Amino acid sequence: MPARALPQELIRAKRDGEVLSPEAIGELVGGIVDGSLSDAQVGALAMAIYLNGMSASETVALTEAVRDSGEVLAWRGLGPGLDLPGPVLDKHSTGGVGDLVSLVLGPWVAACGGCVPMVSGRGLGHTGGTLDKLEAIPGYGIAPSRERFRKLVCEAGVAIVGQTAELAPADRRLYAIRDVTATVESLPLIVSSILGKKLACGLDALVMDVKTGSGAFMPTLERSRELAETIAEVASRAGTPTTALLTDMSQPLAPCAGNAVEVREAIALLTCQKTDERTGGRLLEVTRELAVELLLAGKLAHDRKAALALLDERLATGAAAERFARMVAGLGGPADLLERPERYLPRAAVLRPVFARRSGCVTRMDTRALGLAVVALGGGRRAPNEAIDPAVGLTGIAALGEAVDGERPLAWVHAASEVDAELAASQLRAAIEVNDVAAADVPRPTLIQDVIRREVP
Ligand code: URA
Repeated sequence: MPARALPQELIRAKRDGEVLSPEAIGELVGGIVDGSLSDAQVGALAMAIYLNGMSASETVALTEAVRDSGEVLAWRGLGPGLDLPGPVLDKHSTGGVGDLVSLVLGPWVAACGGCVPMVSGRGLGHTGGTLDKLEAIPGYGIAPSRERFRKLVCEAGVAIVGQTAELAPADRRLYAIRDVTATVESLPLIVSSILGKKLACGLDALVMDVKTGSGAFMPTLERSRELAETIAEVASRAGTPTTALLTDMSQPLAPCAGNAVEVREAIALLTCQKTDERTGGRLLEVTRELAVELLLAGKLAHDRKAALALLDERLATGAAAERFARMVAGLGGPADLLERPERYLPRAAVLRPVFARRSGCVTRMDTRALGLAVVALGGGRRAPNEAIDPAVGLTGIAALGEAVDGERPLAWVHAASEVDAELAASQLRAAIEVNDVAAADVPRPTLIQDVIRREVP
């Protein structure tokens, strides 16, 4: 066996702009997991990658090493009753505000024959997290046993749960060190971090929702596009066919943001109450397009028209809602949540409309600031492990181009106290620009800006 290179020599090579071999990357990731690389060495490696970038082949090797650093879920050849009845499909978003796509898409795709073992995360910065939203449902357990998780994916077709310690452990350590060494914003590190975790779930296909606009993680359209292209390319080269949609986040996707309020919106959408139609139906459109890509990739529909017809039928008949209900009950939530959401989902003590200082049309939004207003209300975390308030948030958020006046507010604030509501009101007025222009003159960004499909080479 060839002698292992010293980690400091591999770090030096990356520091000097050399291309690392897959073996070298494997050794470094092994050292991150078994602790033989010190925090200082991991930080130095992250900085060398941040400064010099990585080639596509290096990023693929890093992604595969992170994916394989722990358990990789397998769904086939497990014996009677355990093999999944359909293709294993999943979706991931780079994060946004009012982005409750996962809550709707998972059950919807399951109702069309897909199997969706969705390992989700918590809110990060100004963005909301799927797990935080689901925990607004009393009793919903995000950490079922492996057997329960498997059984639920098999029987309900969908289970949305939290990450376990066994899944991609290299990322947990690397991410924590990146967080304190100013090395988060590195394309190869972001891509391998996101994909390492997702691909460890044993997927047949993945769809990525990469956001762009004022509420997106990446600051410019060019950077978001680069992220979308790199993710699709790297995931496919690592063996999972992946499509990335580049979607607009220059306003919240749903007309609400928070935890219980977003679960209410998901239930409304799944039960065809069309609550977001007034604000343009953007949530449904993005969810539907992502679902179409998954149905095509999973060969559950032979073309786009057939995929749309299947999706529309499964939503209208209540089949998607029924999958959501089964998932919730299967993970410990109330069996009648869909029939009686008000009995279970918490309501904030204070609910008040926030009016703009002048009448006019909404011309621009600082979506990130809206997300931060939800965090300030207590709907997200200011420090790791902080408890969050599931009841707070925003509803009825006006859309770009919508007229607001003394009757139509910018949004309604759900707060724990009058003081919190007042702070959120001033944040909202600062974040939403209103001008005296005709609605037709307000530019509305294209919702789905690009679709990047990559097959396994
Ligand atoms: N989300 C992740 O999981 N990792 C990153 O590096 C950035 C966002």
